[in-house]
Amino acid sequence: MIKLLHVAGARPNFVKIASIFNACVGNPNIESVLVHTGQHYSKNMSKAFFAELNIPKPDINLEVGSGSHAQQTSEIMKRFEPVLLEHKPDMVLVVGDVNSTVACALVSVKLGIKVIHVEAGLRSFDRTMPEEINRVLTDSISDYLFVTESSGVDNLKHEGIDESKIFFVGNVMIDTLELHKAKSDHSRILDDLKLIPSKYGVVTLHRPSNVDDNKVFRSIIEALIEIQKDIKLVFPIHPRTFNNLKSNGLGEILKTLPNIIIVKPLGYLDFLKLMSHSKIMITDSGGIQEETTILGIPCITVRENTERPVTITEGTNKLVGTNTQTIIAGYRESLNGSQKKSRPRFWDGKASERIVKILQQSL
Ligand code: UD1
Repeated sequence: MIKLLHVAGARPNFVKIASIFNACVGNPNIESVLVHTGQHYSKNMSKAFFAELNIPKPDINLEVGSGSHAQQTSEIMKRFEPVLLEHKPDMVLVVGDVNSTVACALVSVKLGIKVIHVEAGLRSFDRTMPEEINRVLTDSISDYLFVTESSGVDNLKHEGIDESKIFFVGNVMIDTLELHKAKSDHSRILDDLKLIPSKYGVVTLHRPSNVDDNKVFRSIIEALIEIQKDIKLVFPIHPRTFNNLKSNGLGEILKTLPNIIIVKPLGYLDFLKLMSHSKIMITDSGGIQEETTILGIPCITVRENTERPVTITEGTNKLVGTNTQTIIAGYRESLNGSQKKSRPRFWDGKASERIVKILQQSL
């Protein structure tokens, strides 16, 4: 029997934990405990995902909330240590690359508890991204590194991680997508927003490098101003982006544009339906690059790099940077280009099953 403590803190973590936690719960040899760090806490960034993805109510919520990186990370560490001392798990499972991931991995390893990292090995090679630091540090102290794409295996070997710790299992975010795709068809989001399938694009932006820097943010908004002359755009706004749009005045410009529909962050099923029927996605999210690859929807990524290169080589993703003109050109090329339709290896809805099998063998 393994006692496994799962950690989730921020929106993309919930999508990943949904498939792993439920796969573990179905296994008689694994006892699972779920900890929510509280990094994301708003109803539509957290609770809505637990409900729609059938994730049980967390056994423990650390309720850390927002703060600077140091405040948030240290607060998670302080509150997580007593949980480990009380529950004494054999292993701690962390996912993704958020502050909750690195904070809980570090506390665990210092207490001699084995760390499992799901979505290990991804590298943008851009150390100005907070997520890149979280990835490198978490991988360096993990005992089981579960990898989504082959670049991750190469990166980890290159960093000197022992091969016996590396497992190429596929993508748990795609497990969740496959499990909920049919259900999302029932969402009424297209009717609610009066959208016609394939006649609109969807925008999401939340990377600090894009939305905290006014010059970069303005350059992206200028591209959207041009693109919305061609196609209707739906823009579900992340809280970080919303706060910045209010303080930098760019929100006032967006409000005057007739062809941009601004909405609050959407739940999983509504967003999946919206993505599935869109003509194009314009994003800086990591997960959306992967989901559009499986859905066969063109994706232009408003960044200079990606830690998920398979979405370009085998999927529908295209990096366009943050310059107004390169975004507009990328948009035109993406719509005119033929879309690749191959499915990256192991993105087949069975990644969680593979993870559970490997954990069982460790018994
Ligand atoms: C975090 C992750 C990022 C991930 C993203 C997904 C880190 C370093 N970053 O970024 O990798 O892609 O989540 O959303 O961990 N806020 C709310 N309600 C919430 C959560 C946040 O209003 O439930 C607001 C707060 O004003 C907060 C801001 O959003 O200050 C940013 O939240 P934070 O958790 O610091 O980082 P994200 O930008 O969400």
